[in-house]
Amino acid sequence: MNLLITGGAGFIGSNFIRHILNKYPGYKIINLDKLTYAGNLSNLRDIENNPRYGFVRGDICDRKLVNFLVSKRPDAILNFAAETHVDRSILAPQDFIKTDILGTHTLLEAAKKYRTDIFIQISTDEVYGSILNGSFVEESPLRPNSPYSASKAGADLMVRAYQKTFAVPTLITRSSNNFGPFQYPEKLIPLFITNLLEDKKVPVYGDGEQVRDWVYVLDNCSGIDYVLHNGQIGEIYNISGNTEKTNLDITKIILTHLGKNESYIEYVKDRPGHDRRYSLSFDKLYNLGWRPRYDFSEAMVKTIQWYKENPDWWQKIKSGEYLEYYREQYGK
Ligand code: NAD
Ligand code: TYD
Repeated sequence: MNLLITGGAGFIGSNFIRHILNKYPGYKIINLDKLTYAGNLSNLRDIENNPRYGFVRGDICDRKLVNFLVSKRPDAILNFAAETHVDRSILAPQDFIKTDILGTHTLLEAAKKYRTDIFIQISTDEVYGSILNGSFVEESPLRPNSPYSASKAGADLMVRAYQKTFAVPTLITRSSNNFGPFQYPEKLIPLFITNLLEDKKVPVYGDGEQVRDWVYVLDNCSGIDYVLHNGQIGEIYNISGNTEKTNLDITKIILTHLGKNESYIEYVKDRPGHDRRYSLSFDKLYNLGWRPRYDFSEAMVKTIQWYKENPDWWQKIKSGEYLEYYREQYGK
């Protein structure tokens, strides 16, 4: 298969590209990525010279460029590109509306025009909002609470509309919170690991009792791969690792692994509109035959170890050095 992957220089996209190239010796990938602050080509250093991989720097909102790439008739488009950080969406929602909604629409238009066979939208459990008891299923109503999740929900609805109205062959995956190597250190787990490695405190929002449903990034990748090959057009599939933890649980696990005590916890002001609990049922994908493979505790140890062994990767980001490098290489 020839795949057009957008946002492949980010956390999940780069893990997915590596997963596909390793698993399928015949597959080729074009990665279209704007290289925002979150896109980092060093996430793909080990495969940048692979003859089955090509990189294009560009924006999914750029209709001409998107049309050009889609006119080459990739077998599938997988849209990972997005603005993804809830806290940033509270500060600057317009970037989220532009990339997450309008960018997705630009891709859908191209998929319609060139009759792409498979269009997979990479979405999130956050579109369902917060749930105090029970778990979200694919038919649960969309009740997003942040500008990030509202933008992702807008994109999901546009994907649905293009399938229903224009018969664009779409699928949507909605995963829970991912963790693993190459995650930008503004998100909970990599921020806390790297702060502690720098002997800094970790900022827990509010009371820290919010619950997230965690999935190791390679399980999400295998889930998306499974949907690509076995999913039914028009369907939505939740992907989760079946591991719910409070933010304080996660914090204490990281503190213990790094030999720190609870004096490193700093309780800070809560995030506005903070979702209390996410919980996702993935029975639909399970019934189709997919299983998560990674044990949460082992995956956490692997993840902490990865950040310990790769200080160069995150120190460049945290110091701002790599942004300066990209500005020099590519302009703003
Ligand atoms: P990320 O922020 O690490 O990476 C996003 C990538 O998209 C970056 O490489 C960035 O340069 C690129 N990008 C941003 N705007 C672009 C544009 N206009 N055109 C082209 N490229 C652009 O994000 P991630 O954590 O890897 O998330 C990937 C996808 O998975 C997103 O759609 C996100 O909503 C979804 N998701 C993430 C999680 C999670 O826990 N990280 C959970 C569920 C769903
Ligand atoms: P985050 O990694 O930003 O993912 P999301 O908001 O998409 O779930 O945050 C995960 C949880 O951790 C969320 O409840 C907010 C909380 N959090 C903190 O308590 N402190 C922090 O510094 C960050 C970044 C997140």
